[in-house]
Amino acid sequence: MAISSSCWLLKQRLVVGFLFVVVVETGINPLANGCFTSVFSFGDSLTDTGNLLEISLSESKKLPPSAFLPNGRTFFHRPTWRRCDGRLVIDFIAEALGIPFLQASFGAKNRKSVKFEKGLNFAVAGATALNSSFLKGNIGIHDRNTGVSFADELNSFKDLLPYLCSSSSDCKLLLRNSLIVMGEIGGNDYKHAFEQGINMEKIRHLVPLVVDIVSSAINELVELGAVTFLVPGSFPIGCSPDLLTNFQGSNNPSTGCLTWLNQFSQHHNGLLQKELEKLRNHHPDINIVYADYYNTTMRFYHSPKQFGFKETVKACCGSGGPYSYNSSRSCGYPPLKTSCNNPSSYVSWDGIHYTEAANKWLANAVLQELMKTVTCVPH
Ligand SMILES: *[C@@H]1O[C@H](CO)[C@@H](O)[C@H](O)[C@H]1NC(C)=O
Ligand SMILES: *[C@@H]1O[C@H](CO)[C@@H](O)[C@H](O)[C@H]1NC(C)=O
Ligand SMILES: *[C@@H]1O[C@H](CO)[C@@H](O)[C@H](O)[C@H]1NC(C)=O
Repeated sequence: MAISSSCWLLKQRLVVGFLFVVVVETGINPLANGCFTSVFSFGDSLTDTGNLLEISLSESKKLPPSAFLPNGRTFFHRPTWRRCDGRLVIDFIAEALGIPFLQASFGAKNRKSVKFEKGLNFAVAGATALNSSFLKGNIGIHDRNTGVSFADELNSFKDLLPYLCSSSSDCKLLLRNSLIVMGEIGGNDYKHAFEQGINMEKIRHLVPLVVDIVSSAINELVELGAVTFLVPGSFPIGCSPDLLTNFQGSNNPSTGCLTWLNQFSQHHNGLLQKELEKLRNHHPDINIVYADYYNTTMRFYHSPKQFGFKETVKACCGSGGPYSYNSSRSCGYPPLKTSCNNPSSYVSWDGIHYTEAANKWLANAVLQELMKTVTCVPH
């Protein structure tokens, strides 16, 4: 493939707060128009734009809930394989960078109509950071999902690379001009562990292993030529209706969240940020932007009105119990064919994933971080 536009990424830590306002208010922003020529993303259902559907189709398995309305109702007005009423954070990122929504990587080779030079999405709903044989053998966690791990996603990327670029130097140039979005990943490893009653000490032992998976993947991609990474941390899992339903208990009175679970997310984020700092020191020429999902979304629970939210810990598409969540009823499968009247006043779409409204705030915060670190100078 040819890389038509090019830009230099300069590492400059400028105060560009006004740029954020520009993005939010006008939709025009300096990251668009050739700053990054492509985006490649990895992760789980928070980022999947069709891989689980493609995998289910190829294996003649039951289609995932994301294949059915009301998923997609707000923005696309049809199901688009996203577990959301509309756009995901990765969709808002693509829009801000002026590139099309990312296509699913699975089967992309065979879909001649797909133009994937501008990016591909390797995220698979249900993916874990660690592989399922390790989770089962070493921790006793049964992965009830697809069994796809982060290593599988990275391998798919390496398999597809020859379709994206033709020589080692061509690939390096492609990756140099690409934004790599690493996750979030690990959320399912922890969620399975908590839901399956694994003790806290064992679950905490998973954290450095998960962080190491992310870190090794960054090192590998740097070898291949990537220079700009966006690495999301864990969101506050103690505010998530699914885990709140599972662990009904003494919630924090001001946020409605479970503090002990949120502390776990913070523990993960602390180790992840330490590791990212190590990587920055080890590779002084690369940009690693930490996407602070935790602090950004905590603001929804502390001051919901500021963001237009009325319900923070209740699912919009769900039923039953104080959090409108029941793990045996997934949004999209009967009987959950309807959802709340106004999804934009809810933080949680289906009890596990955010609404488009929440994703939009999250994406804006992430883009603001990206702009602080990365400046593009066309030449
Ligand atoms: C699973 O992960 C472990 C630890 O990261 C690794 O040693 C093992 O080779 C992996 N197994 C498979 C089948 O990928
Ligand atoms: C994010 O939240 C944590 C925990 O509340 C806090 O320790 C940290 O200072 C916050 N970071 C930022 C950048 O706001
Ligand atoms: C959850 O849904 C299942 C299946 O529809 C139902 O049998 C069960 O009673 C529900 N549980 C709760 C707590 O509402």
